[in-house]
Parts: sequence; C-alpha cells; structure tokens
Amino acid sequence: MTDNFSLKSHNTFGLEHKCRALMNAKTTEELCSICIELYASNQPMLILGGGSNIILCDDFAGTVVVVETKGIEVSSTESYHLLSVEAGEDWHELVCFCLSQGIAGFENLALIPGKVGAAPIQNIGAYGVEIKDICEWVEYCDLSTGKHIRLSANECNFSYRESIFKQQLLGRALITKVGFKVPKIWQPKLDYGPLRALKDPAVTPKDVFECICATRMSKLPDPAKVGNAGSFFKNPVISNELYLSLTTKFPNIVGYPQDAGKTKVAAGWLIEAAGLKGFQVGGAAVHADQALVLINKNSATSEDVLNLARHVVDCIDKQFGIRLQPEPRMIAATGERSL
Ligand code: FAD
Ligand code: EPU
Repeated sequence: MTDNFSLKSHNTFGLEHKCRALMNAKTTEELCSICIELYASNQPMLILGGGSNIILCDDFAGTVVVVETKGIEVSSTESYHLLSVEAGEDWHELVCFCLSQGIAGFENLALIPGKVGAAPIQNIGAYGVEIKDICEWVEYCDLSTGKHIRLSANECNFSYRESIFKQQLLGRALITKVGFKVPKIWQPKLDYGPLRALKDPAVTPKDVFECICATRMSKLPDPAKVGNAGSFFKNPVISNELYLSLTTKFPNIVGYPQDAGKTKVAAGWLIEAAGLKGFQVGGAAVHADQALVLINKNSATSEDVLNLARHVVDCIDKQFGIRLQPEPRMIAATGERSL
C-alpha cells in the first residue's frame, strides 16, 4: 500500500490526480478479500483495470484497487473453442494470444486498450463486433454478500455500450473472470468500413487483425503519446422521426438504422459539423482528426476536460437537439458522478 499515490500512469487521459491508497491484487482471492473488506467498511473504493475508460475529476479520497490477476485457460468442444480468462489479462494481448493459437473471432476487437475484466461492463465493440458476440459467461464477486456468481451472456443484458454491470449491479460487482466461446469454423465479420475491401474468399483472421490495427492507428491517438479515453461520447440513438427531420436540414448527417424505429447517429459527425474539431479549453482539446475523441493536448486539468466536454454537449444540443452522453466513467473524490 502507498500513501498519496499518483494516478497519472493509471489513467490513459494522463490526468494528474492522487489517491489515498493503491493496492495491486495479483490473485482472485486477494482481489476479492480486499474489495469485500473495503465495501463493508463503506470506504471509497475504485476498482481499476487499465484506466482507459475513466476521467478522474478529482483526487480520489479512498483506495484504488488495481486488478492484476492473470491466467488464460483454453479448452474445446467438437465445434467451439472455449476460453476462461482472468480479469487482469490485457485485452489486446488476449486477442494476439488467440490469433497465435489459431483461435479466430476476436480479431475485430484488436487494439482496444484495457483489461478483460472491464470489457463486459460497457460491452466493448468495434468494427461490427461486440464482446456479447463472443462472450459465454461473466463471473463476478458480489461485494455485498461475498458470493461468486456466474452470469450467462444473456443474463448480462448486453446492448450498445451497456450491460447489467452499469445497471442493476452497479457498484457491487467485482468481475473476476470472463468466459468466451467462438466457433472453430471461422465466420469473418467484414461489413464495417475498411473491412469491406477484404471481401475475398482467401481472407484470414490475420488479414482482418492487421486491417483493424492499421485503421485504428491511423484514426485514434495513441494514449502513450497523447492522453485520451477513446470516444468521449456515445453515438446517440434517436427516433427515426427526429433523424428524418435532421436529414432535411443536414443532408450529409451520418446515421445507422437500428431496431425499433431508431437510428444511431455518428456523434463525431455532429461535433465536426458544429465546427468543434480542434476546439480547445485550457490543455484539453477536441482531436483535430477524430472529433469524437477529446485529448490531453497540453497538461490538461480535469476542469479543462469537464468544461470542454460540457461545451461540446451544449453546442450539439443547441444545433441538433441531441444531448450527448459521455462514454467514459466520471470518477469524483468518493465515487462515480455524472458530467
Ligand atoms: P478502466 O478504465 O480501468 O475501468 C472502467 C470502469 O470499469 C471503471 O468504472 C472501473 O471501476 C470498472 N472496472 C474495471 N475493471 C473492473 C472489474 N474487474 N470489476 C468491476 N469493475 C471494474 N471501447 C470500446 O468499446 N471500443 C473501442 O473501440 C474502444 N477504443 C478505445 C481506444 C482508445 C485509444 C481508448 C483510450 C479507449 C478505447 N475504448 C474503446 C474504451 C476502453 O478501452 C474500454 O472501455 C475498456 O474496456 C476499458 O478497460 P479498462 O481496463 O481500461 O477499464
Ligand atoms: N466522423 C466524422 N467526423 C469525425 C469523426 C467521425 O464525420 O471527426 C464520421 C465518420 O466519417 C464516419 C462516422 O462518423 O462516417 C463514424 O466514425 P468511425 O467509424 O470512426 O466511428 P466512431 O463512431 O467515431 C465508433 C466507436 C469506437 C469504435 C469505432 C469502430 C462509439 C462511441 N465509438 O466510433 O469505439 O472503435 O466506432 O467501430 O461507439 C470507444 O468506444 O472508445 C471507441 C473508440
């Protein structure tokens, strides 16, 4: 345990905040016993993977528990590869491991930062695949009872950037292990953007992996060089009615049809159309190439980031009548808060 530990290297936005105590948990037993004790004592606690989906709004007045549990077990049935993966494994390393073992199905999700335990929480997704498509179960420790529970993927209520872990189980589920199930006969998903160019019967999982990595590296800033938390806002899902009325005013607006009379709108397009690309507040800025990403341009403070984000939300609301919701979790001194 360390007093007043800096969290700068524990959040990919690179915000300079401290916590009272920081503990690294390397086994599931250790992880669960630390978190159960902190939960019972009512002390502020932040469970942390790679810190790639948080915005620290203040110094944290409690204990940060970093999940560092490791282990990947592989088995199979006649038709499926099965994996059981500890929460502290790095997501992208898992994707690379699968590729090296001839296990296909993870490649569209290459280069997403963070750890396996956080991946189901917002049902990570990219390039036409979400974790819900390959997840079989999620195991968590219920911090209020100490019980270990395994939920089927269906019970996780996965939807776009959502799951039961952000709803009914918010604040009391410590994810310890995730199970995956992918068919041995590969079914490539090549419908999204640059992947369409790969439509060729000879395409391999490695081709898809390389295309995804190249695309992501050309579009998204590398947090090791420029602090960021990926997409800062979710793509809003609006009624077809509102979308149609917007298309008459903004014929180039980008939207994707969804179920139940809804359309998902590209928030990056809205922010760019509002003229906010490159817009800066203090050291924080809207990325000049990808408007959905806010960056730490020059020693940004959390106030800079929050003020910039609020400005973007207000501008988009005024211009399009759509209120953007942040994707990363806002972490204040004693726990999560809204923007
Ligand atoms: P953290 O930021 O450490 O934690 C996120 C939240 O989950 C926190 O509230 C934390 O308390 C909680 N948490 C973490 N681990 C556990 C656990 N074991 N049990 C319970 N609670 C836990 N996301 C996508 O979906 N698609 C993308 O394409 C994508 N691209 C990105 C690109 C960049 C450059 C960056 C910086 C981020 C991107 N993200 C993307 C967002 C991010 O990578 C994912 O949300 C990722 O799953 C977060 O993992 P993490 O370990 O860093 O979580
Ligand atoms: N666009 C603009 N201007 C911009 C940015 C985007 O007009 O500045 C337009 C693009 O031209 C495109 C559309 O918006 O027509 C969508 O852009 P892109 O394909 O880059 O995807 P995105 O909506 O910006 C989403 C996810 C990403 C994920 C990619 C690929 C969300 C909030 N973001 O981004 O996830 O990697 O699709 O699937 O759903 C993340 O969650 O952190 C993340 C990076």
